Amino acid sequence: MKDIFFCPEESNFYSNCLENLVLRNCKKSESVVEFGSGDGTPVINSLLRNKFDGVIHGFELNTSAWKAANLTIDEYNLAHKYIINNSCLFKSSKPKAKYLVANPPYLPAPDADIYMPLLFGGIDGATVTNDLLSLGYENVLVLISSFSNPKSTIEQAKENGYCVNNFVVLPLKFGYYSSEPKVKKHIEELRKHSMAFYSNEYYFLAGVLFNKCQNNPIDLSKELTQVMTSL
Ligand SMILES: C[S@@+](CC[C@H](N)C(=O)[O-])C[C@H]1O[C@@H](n2cnc3c(N)ncnc32)[C@H](O)[C@@H]1O
Repeated sequence: MKDIFFCPEESNFYSNCLENLVLRNCKKSESVVEFGSGDGTPVINSLLRNKFDGVIHGFELNTSAWKAANLTIDEYNLAHKYIINNSCLFKSSKPKAKYLVANPPYLPAPDADIYMPLLFGGIDGATVTNDLLSLGYENVLVLISSFSNPKSTIEQAKENGYCVNNFVVLPLKFGYYSSEPKVKKHIEELRKHSMAFYSNEYYFLAGVLFNKCQNNPIDLSKELTQVMTSL
């Protein structure tokens, strides 16, 4: 288990966001693409709690996590609803889908040589998230951390024609991965340049639903920026 992402508080939050911001609004047979499925628990739990008759196509690079996810998918007979590829979404022919969802790698660091390299989110932590907002999906649910240059993500989304449709915020304590000295030191540097926002122990994690503005007049980006830069 050591090399599989493990943070139940964060995974449960992601699962709740999926449920409240995506699955409940899905109409018949809609499809969802997921980047970074991990051990699959968040999607599996929300599938078990909700009636969803579409298909979720996951992508997970970590082979141990991918294997663990498939064991649980089989255990709950969900193989027709949740299919995970052991590959990178960016390098695949992107499946068509109404929603793209992810709890993406968002750790900022000088390089990827950290406890779990697949959690590296680029130098400011926002690179993978911002790339996900450049794939053209109509609706995107991503978790955004307040220490990972959140302003850049909100700006990138705007440039790509997205509005913030809805969001939920969770205060989280720095955990095992974000407390790694190399990562924490780097986050402290980012704070000096207004690219990381946190208090002594806490940072904010937001579940944000972006959608293309032409489909929705609601835009909560100012409110989101205000919250994410308030610590
Ligand atoms: C923060 S974890 C989230 C895992 C799971 N969704 C959860 O919330 O518990 C991010 C996941 O993305 C995976 N990942 C990182 N880069 C990836 C890539 N290029 N393609 C697919 N998965 C990737 C990591 O291995 C990791 O499992």
